[in-house]
This record gives sequence, C-alpha cells and structure tokens, in this order.
Amino acid sequence: MHVFEAVASRYSCRAFLPTPVPEAVVRDILARAARAPSAGNMQPWRVYALAGKRVEELKALLAPRMATELPKGEGAEYVIYPEPLTEPYRSRRFEVGEMLYRSIGVAREDRPARYRQYARNYEFFGAPVALFFAREKAHGPAQWADIGGFLQTVALVARGHGLHTCPQQAWVSFHKTVRAFLKLPDNLMIYSGMALGYADETAPINSWRSPREPLDSYASFEGFPTDG
Ligand SMILES: Cc1cc2nc3c(=O)[nH]c(=O)nc-3n(C[C@H](O)[C@H](O)[C@H](O)COP(=O)(O)O)c2cc1C
Repeated sequence: MHVFEAVASRYSCRAFLPTPVPEAVVRDILARAARAPSAGNMQPWRVYALAGKRVEELKALLAPRMATELPKGEGAEYVIYPEPLTEPYRSRRFEVGEMLYRSIGVAREDRPARYRQYARNYEFFGAPVALFFAREKAHGPAQWADIGGFLQTVALVARGHGLHTCPQQAWVSFHKTVRAFLKLPDNLMIYSGMALGYADETAPINSWRSPREPLDSYASFEGFPTDG
C-alpha cells in the first residue's frame, strides 16, 4: 500500500469484525512503527498488547460499571481537553461529535443513547486486539509528542496489513482499573488505548469521515520561488 493511501484511508474505526489478528501481525506492526522518530532516539513508548481472553477479561471488568459511572469514570489521570476549550477547537470537537451521533441516528438530547455508544469504547468497539500506550510519568512534552508520532505510525502500518484502528483516550477515565489489570509499574501511566482489527465496513458508524481545515489556515509558506 502506498503511503498516501495508508494516510488517506486511516480513520477512527468504531465498529470491528470479530476476525482475530495473529500475534505475528501485531508484533510486525509494533516493530515497524518503532521506526518513528523520537527526540534523542529515546523511543519513550511502552506498549501493552492484549487479545482473546485478556481482552474479554478487561471488558468484563468494565461492563457492569457503564450504567452508573459514565462519563467520568475514575476521573482522568491527565487533562485531555483544556478547560475552557476555546474556539476554534471547541467547534471542531462539537462537530465531530455531531457527525458521529448523526451517523447512528442518535439525537443530541438523547443522553442515554449517547452514553450507550460512548460505552462501546470499553468494548474496544468489538476489536479483537487492544493496545495500551504507556509513558514514563517523569517524561515531559517532547516524549508525549514522540508517543503520539508512534501511535500514528502504528495506525498507518496497520493499514498496510488491511487493518483499522481507533485511538482511545477514553481508557484514561478508567486508569486505576487499567493500571491494576496490566500490573502497570508505578513509573508508568497510560497515555491512550487503541482498538485494532478489521473494520466492519457495513456499520453506519464507520460511514462518515471527519473534516479537516484548509491547508492555508494552519500552514504558511515563505521564500518558495514562484512557478513560471
Ligand atoms: C490520542 C487520541 C485519543 C483518542 N481517543 C478516542 C476515544 O477514546 N474514543 C473515540 O471514539 N475516538 C478517539 N479518538 C479519535 C478522534 O476523535 C479522531 O481522531 C478525530 O475525531 C479525527 O477523526 P479521524 O481519526 O477519523 O480522522 C482519539 C484520537 C486520538 C489521536
């Protein structure tokens, strides 16, 4: 698969087929993704990959808590959205939420239905593989960014295997449970989860694509010789 196609075809997939993904494929994805750059080549990422029984065990821990503990969960271990979320970021976040819920026919006012869909995060949207990206608590912004680059590289390499992904910071809201489940050492914390598997292309929730701002709104160009 050409890199342009991998980038263009990646999206946050929120309905997966149960088709298993072999461990060798997951290993291949993570090994290739480690070609991602990092400051000083620190390679600050740490990944926990789960499948089969382990995924089912974690889902079973969360399932009975969904009705009463959403959306707060255990309280996030780190701030994901700045408070207050100013423009234009607030509107962008709002728009993508509207698109998601519209695709499955859930009205804005229907909070129970929204929470039911949100709870699908804690089933990895049906994916057979779950990844958790952890970081050293002592590391700073440069290493957070490096792990972000690694996460995106995982998503792109997954496309090369015909697989799809959904990054999932939703798991940060249940960080205590995840920490205990993974036996995460004290020096690490979860940055994000990620669902990995084959997309259910027929699912309405996978039928839409998030918009992007026009190039000239976020990039400026100086000193390039003009054509002709
Ligand atoms: C680090 C990170 C965490 C995310 N966490 C979640 C999540 O918990 N649940 C979810 O449905 N989407 C999650 N997303 C997906 C974003 O909503 C999505 O990337 C954004 O709306 C752009 O859409 P696209 O990925 O389909 O291009 C996350 C994305 C990133 C980069």
